[in-house]
This record gives sequence, C-alpha cells and structure tokens, in this order.
Amino acid sequence: MKVKNTPGDVKDPALAEQGERRIEWAAREMNVLKLIRERFSRERPLKGVRISGCLHITTETANLALALKDGGATVALCASNPLSTQDDVAAALVAIHGIPTYAIKGEDNETYYRHIHQALEHRPQVTLDDGADLVTTLHTQRHELMDGVIGGTEETTTGVIRLHALAKEGKLRYPIVAVNEADTKHLFDNRYGTGQSTLDGITRATNILWAGRKVVVAGYGWCGRGVAMRARGMGSHVIVTEIDPIRALEAVMDGYEVMPMAQAATVGQVFVTTTGGLGAVDEAHLNVMKDGAILANSGHFNVEINIPALEAMAVSHRTMREFVEEYALKDGRRLYLLGEGRLINLAAAEGHPSSVMDMSFADQALSAEYLVKQGKKLKPEVYPVPRDIDREVGRLKLISMGVQIDTLTPEQQRYLSTWESGT
Ligand code: ADE
Repeated sequence: MKVKNTPGDVKDPALAEQGERRIEWAAREMNVLKLIRERFSRERPLKGVRISGCLHITTETANLALALKDGGATVALCASNPLSTQDDVAAALVAIHGIPTYAIKGEDNETYYRHIHQALEHRPQVTLDDGADLVTTLHTQRHELMDGVIGGTEETTTGVIRLHALAKEGKLRYPIVAVNEADTKHLFDNRYGTGQSTLDGITRATNILWAGRKVVVAGYGWCGRGVAMRARGMGSHVIVTEIDPIRALEAVMDGYEVMPMAQAATVGQVFVTTTGGLGAVDEAHLNVMKDGAILANSGHFNVEINIPALEAMAVSHRTMREFVEEYALKDGRRLYLLGEGRLINLAAAEGHPSSVMDMSFADQALSAEYLVKQGKKLKPEVYPVPRDIDREVGRLKLISMGVQIDTLTPEQQRYLSTWESGT
C-alpha cells in the first residue's frame, strides 16, 4: 500500500517495492526490536512525539523507524553520511510507510545539510543522531527549535566524543543518551558489526584475497579489534597502530604486531583506519607506502586518511571500479582510495548485519522511550543507557538466539554478598 503526499527527497520512488522487501528481510534478524515494536504497538509510549533521526538510511534503520512509528511517534529521517544511504530503503520509507525521508546516496555536502534542515523542519521533541550532525546543526543554526526538544540519543563513538565536548563547554542544551556506551551496543556493533562489514565493504569494492595480505589497522578500540580479528581470521598478517599504551599492549598480547604508523606504512598492503580521529594516515605515511597500497576508512568521518594531501601528491587519478579511485604519484607509485575515504562498510557494502543492529536499535528505541518518560527531569548532560535497559536487551537477544544461561542459587547469591568467608 502506498502512502500519498509524504514529503521527502529520495533518488527514485520507483525503488520502493525493492526497498520494502529488503526491509522485511532485515526484520527477520531483528527479533529484539520486533518484541519492542509489538509492545510499542500495544502501549503507544511515544504517542504524538515528533522524532527526527539523522541516521544511516539502511534496512535496519527502517525497522527502527517503524518501531518508533508503531509506538505512536511521527518520525522524519535524514542521512548521517552522504554515501551510506540505501536508495531503495529511502524510497520505501516515503512511498510505503509515509515517513518523510531526506537522503540520497552520493549527495553533495550542500544537499546533505539541506536534508538535515528538512528533517529539523519536523520540529523534533526527540533527536536521534549518528555522528552528532543533527544536534550540532540545532545548536549552531536552529536555536528557535531548541525549546521543544526533550532529549536525544547518539549512536556512535565519534558523536559521543563531540557531545561530551559540547557539554564540557556548557553549551549542550538538552539531555542526550549515549547509546554507544551501552555494552549491548559497542561490544557487539562496534566489534562484530564493524569487523564483518568493513571486510565486506573492502571485499566488495576490490575483490582482493585477504589470505597472506599485510593489513594495517589504525586504532585498537572496539571497531579496530573487530577489523583486526576478522582480517586475521581471513588469513591476513595484521599490524596494529595505536596511541594509547594500554590498548597497544592489549593488541600485542592479542598476538598482533604493533608499531608506529610511520613504520607500518612502509610494509602494509591494506590500511584500515578506525581511530575516530584526524590524519591516522597522513602525508608522511602516504609518501612511504608501497605501490598498490589500498586505503580504507571505517571511522565515522572522512578525515582519518589525509585525502587533500593524497590529491595534492597525485599527478592523475582515475576510477578503477566503483568505490576504487587510483591516485598515480610523481614517483610512479599508485595508491588506491576506497569509497572516497568515507565509512567503507556503508559506502561499498550494507553496513553492519541486521542481527547486530538489532541490539543497537533496541537500545535506541528504549532510550527514546526513556527520554520521553524522564527527559524533563534530566539536566542537559550526556547520560549512559540505563543499566536495566542494557541488560534487558542482552537478555532478550540471548532468548531470541535460543541460548539459555544459569542463574545464581540463593546460597551462591548469599556468598557473593558477604565478606566473612575467606581462605
Ligand atoms: N551503522 C553501521 N551499520 C549500520 C546499519 N546497517 N544500519 C544503520 N546504521 C549502521
């Protein structure tokens, strides 16, 4: 059934039926969100609440939006990255579900921000962000909308870092729940999701064989761990670079070679950045890389590889295949940048698999409900996902996977709550 006259800006409304089938396919793997959606349909905890989400427009995000809608919310969406939109999903959201969606894969910067403003025209009471561009736009350019906002959520590490910086300057105007900080989010989405989808994106873009390849992973946070683990699983020789001594030590003891990027740059064949920071692969590194090195980013923003330096160094460049740009340098070397240095898992593949997004988006849905219930009482700070929500999402995921676990006996419980018994 088509919904007429829903506003939106999508590539091609004719893609809606295809998008709808893929949204349904993803739903099969999102059993925790399904349970929440069923409860939301009965209880309508978000009745009349206007929600604007700046998220990657994928089949999984569509399922989140549908859960929120069934909870009674009116939802508007825009892309959180110019290259991550699945155009068929955006079409289905508008044409079939009547959810205003402003997102086109490959949109330029101007369109990207126009879309954010269009999602803000919805006058959100709750904001959902992945990277904090929506919150930042609200705080810098749309002050008139601020009084109506109850609270917001943030999906990703980079966004949480930005929001902490905003809060530290005393400028954050409403409470934000940092979904990324939930165990059921970062331990699974960042690690297993990024691990699998990053290799998927690089494989789809290049069709390289991983076995025997020297792979340099910049950053050993949860995303870097996932990428390193999966690359090793495919038979790659993995080198890790880090700036944090504890994380570097963990990488060493997890069995990886650890060295500075200046050294790794001379030996690596594939480079994957997952630092969340600036210039992990910088001009000096590009200068010493081997001919044929492949450069991919899996961090939120396209600043981890110094692309302006790469462009300035190149005498020419050409597109070898979709998402693979060859840069020919003066000295004859060729370097290959994937997906314009944007999140390779979403640019060249489909992002994290639905089963892992199930937990992240269950956290999102329950955090939105929490904000609607509690938001007016909360100060404008960055909050963790309440522990009971986090544990419940984990519990439901286990049940959905058919896994049972033990519980403490009363005697074991007593033992753990006393101090008397020792050696
Ligand atoms: N972030 C990473 N993978 C994603 C996906 N499949 N959907 C939405 N956001 C994501």
